[in-house]
Amino acid sequence: MAIIAPSLLASNFLNLASECKMLNESSADWFHLDVMDGRFVPNISYGPMLVEVFRKTTTKICDVHLMIEEPERYTEAFKKAGADILSVHIEACKHLHRNIQQIKSLGMQAGVAVNPHTPVEALKDILEDIDLVCLMSVNPGFGGQSFIPHTLAKIKQLREMIDEQSLKVKIEVDGGVTLENAQSIINAGADVLVAGNTVFKSADPIATIAALKKM
Ligand code: DX5
Ligand code: ZN
Repeated sequence: MAIIAPSLLASNFLNLASECKMLNESSADWFHLDVMDGRFVPNISYGPMLVEVFRKTTTKICDVHLMIEEPERYTEAFKKAGADILSVHIEACKHLHRNIQQIKSLGMQAGVAVNPHTPVEALKDILEDIDLVCLMSVNPGFGGQSFIPHTLAKIKQLREMIDEQSLKVKIEVDGGVTLENAQSIINAGADVLVAGNTVFKSADPIATIAALKKM
């Protein structure tokens, strides 16, 4: 059964309290929190202050996806805000290994996110040090984009790399996940499905989360 991680980016910010309440009552496993800096990606979302607010509304795992340059400058701030999992982009880190050690030394799980153009082979020498790979199935920066089909081949390849080394690293797929493509993403080997628009723009988000969970 996949882990379902709704992305709050697609929620109604005027009704955040009820959106969080809905997620808490749903079968969602994680809160996926998208942090964008307007530099690494062409959009700005929110930072540690709002992560701290989300943290206070839930006991579920807070999975923070940093789409920012120089993420090492903010690792402690996100720890203080209550992140359980902190993912940094491979494309934003000159010293990825050091960044991962920093995240882990603060007691968080460490994730590495990879853009659609980055081959999964680039993860080879960091895989045994991390807990999660966030495979981007859209170009990061915006919700509501279409799933890039080539991601399925990347999931399969990464699954093989992880299994070959008998590692426990989870594969998270982020972007354009729908009720229609979720099964093929799971079949390819994904452990975690991020879903923004599919959940929050549906008529019955709790039922949509349950449907994703059942696949
Ligand atoms: C994109 C973000 C995603 C996004 C997913 O940059 O990392 O988490 O919110 O949204 P949907 O599911 O609508 O593509
Ligand atoms: Zn994300």
